[in-house]
Amino acid sequence: MNNDDKIAAIRDYVFAIFSSDATGHDFHHMSRVADAARTISEAENANPFICEAAAWIHDIGDEKLFADRTEAINDLTAFLLSSGITRDETRKILQAAEDVSFRKGNVPDTLEGKIVQDADRLDAIGAVGIARTFAYGGSNGQLIWSSTESDGTSIQHFYDKLLLLKGRMNTNSAIRIAEKRHRFMEMYLDQFFSEWCR
Ligand code: NI
Repeated sequence: MNNDDKIAAIRDYVFAIFSSDATGHDFHHMSRVADAARTISEAENANPFICEAAAWIHDIGDEKLFADRTEAINDLTAFLLSSGITRDETRKILQAAEDVSFRKGNVPDTLEGKIVQDADRLDAIGAVGIARTFAYGGSNGQLIWSSTESDGTSIQHFYDKLLLLKGRMNTNSAIRIAEKRHRFMEMYLDQFFSEWCR
């Protein structure tokens, strides 16, 4: 099995799990993160197959999406090994993805982990990041914004997290992409408040 076939099998597996997600962690999030991870890996001389595969599966087992992390990871491991992916590749893919999920606020040890983290963070900012923020907030019963109780609102999430991500990218390739998306969010927030207060 060549790497394209392996990626196609992973994509189908991910589609079956995430196609109906409405929290901003849908199949298209995984697809964009996989695309970005592959592009960044080429610029950063990392292993593109490991980066892309890890990006596809990076949210599998996330405790806010899965009731049982261990079961999700065990099923995933069995699937990878049954899809022509070697034991060594499987270990590296799981390691890169685990680096991202267990080190949300920290720097992963591996270059592949750093790249998948960057790709995931890029999808949290810019126009798509804005859409995902409100989708996630709505699915968790959060207000869009409140001038009296800003904690836990979707708009507050920009200040608590999203506007900080540009400064936390691991690779130069991601920093360049992040700058444009960051400016767009700042413009968006200016416009949001100019309309909200009327
Ligand atoms: Ni993600």
